[in-house]
Amino acid sequence: MTTTLDSAATALATEESVRDLVIRWRRHLHQHPELSFHEERTAQFVAETLASFGNLDISRPTPTSVVARLSGARPGPVLAMRADIDALPIEERNSHEFVSRNAGVMHACGHDGHTAMLLGAAKVLTGIRDELAGEIRFIFQHAEELDPGGAEELVNAGVLDGVDMIIGAHLWLPMPYGQVGVRSGALMAAPDNFRITISGSGGHAAIPHETIDSIAIAAQVITNLQHIVARNVDPLGSAVVSVTRIAGGTMYNIIPGRVELAGTVRTFDPALRDRVPELMQRIIGGVTAAHGASFTFEYDRGYRPVHNDERATDLLRRAVVRALGSDVLVDATPTMGGEDFSAYQQKVPGSFFFIGARNEEKGIVNPHHHECFDVDERALDSGTRIFVAAAREMLGE
Ligand code: NI
Repeated sequence: MTTTLDSAATALATEESVRDLVIRWRRHLHQHPELSFHEERTAQFVAETLASFGNLDISRPTPTSVVARLSGARPGPVLAMRADIDALPIEERNSHEFVSRNAGVMHACGHDGHTAMLLGAAKVLTGIRDELAGEIRFIFQHAEELDPGGAEELVNAGVLDGVDMIIGAHLWLPMPYGQVGVRSGALMAAPDNFRITISGSGGHAAIPHETIDSIAIAAQVITNLQHIVARNVDPLGSAVVSVTRIAGGTMYNIIPGRVELAGTVRTFDPALRDRVPELMQRIIGGVTAAHGASFTFEYDRGYRPVHNDERATDLLRRAVVRALGSDVLVDATPTMGGEDFSAYQQKVPGSFFFIGARNEEKGIVNPHHHECFDVDERALDSGTRIFVAAAREMLGE
């Protein structure tokens, strides 16, 4: 009787301290953000913190990533859990006491929290390894924010060898704290980007008939590109074609000979993803030819879409309910944002999910990549608990 109460109390105390540790780790990482592919101190911190737990086989597959393996008491399935660790080139404008100390660099997407909550899960799970059959592989991935991304590099380095399933989370400002969004199928889009140059022939603005006006033609190209989403994409499907940059000209009385455009394309459906650049090429070619101009068109394919496996998503649903109860579970709304978690999903079944981190009352409302981005830190504990519960679901009992 006493023993049961004691161990329950110990368990509770341990859990409480892990929750505090996770917040402390997150704040430390927040103060010391590092850009993609340059996460030297972050990786060092992660590796040292993991080493302090004991029982983990820690490796550094690339210079700024860390992988830790936890073997259970008996053989069994291998579950991988991933956190991204990189920050963004943004000057932070928050005023809390753990504001970034690295000028021009900020954890403005929540990856500091992802890292901290996965460290928390590693700490809890190393403590209960005797109850687990199988292996848990904790992947602390560099460079999620910068194409071609760290995930592909880690897959090529073999970090998924022998893995049966992978899960990963994003702290999510579009959702309030207290909700966890899970979804099978398409969740995040393929973020591709493009550059177009339109070359006409410059001249005096008062003598337009002796020029080929690249600005007027660029305007028509932009307008016609809207036709793709409006008229070429199934209304029940979805795509984004956004021209986000236009550059050309120097002065009010000069028609420039050249205009540069750039932008992004977002799709979920692989067939549509292939088709959009073909349609763009046809439109740009047609409009420029109609007006006697020429063009170049470069199209870069970014990350693949995040498409969640049904079995892995079922595991997540069970984990969320086990960790936090069924009230928090919601159907995640897909987003046109991209994520290189998709690189792992090419290799093994995986599911990516969203942990609500918005809090209107506390003023935690700014979107991802905003200079005043923040998260409701209570969401970190939710993440830790879900990762632990997923391990228990797959490797426990
Ligand atoms: Ni992110």
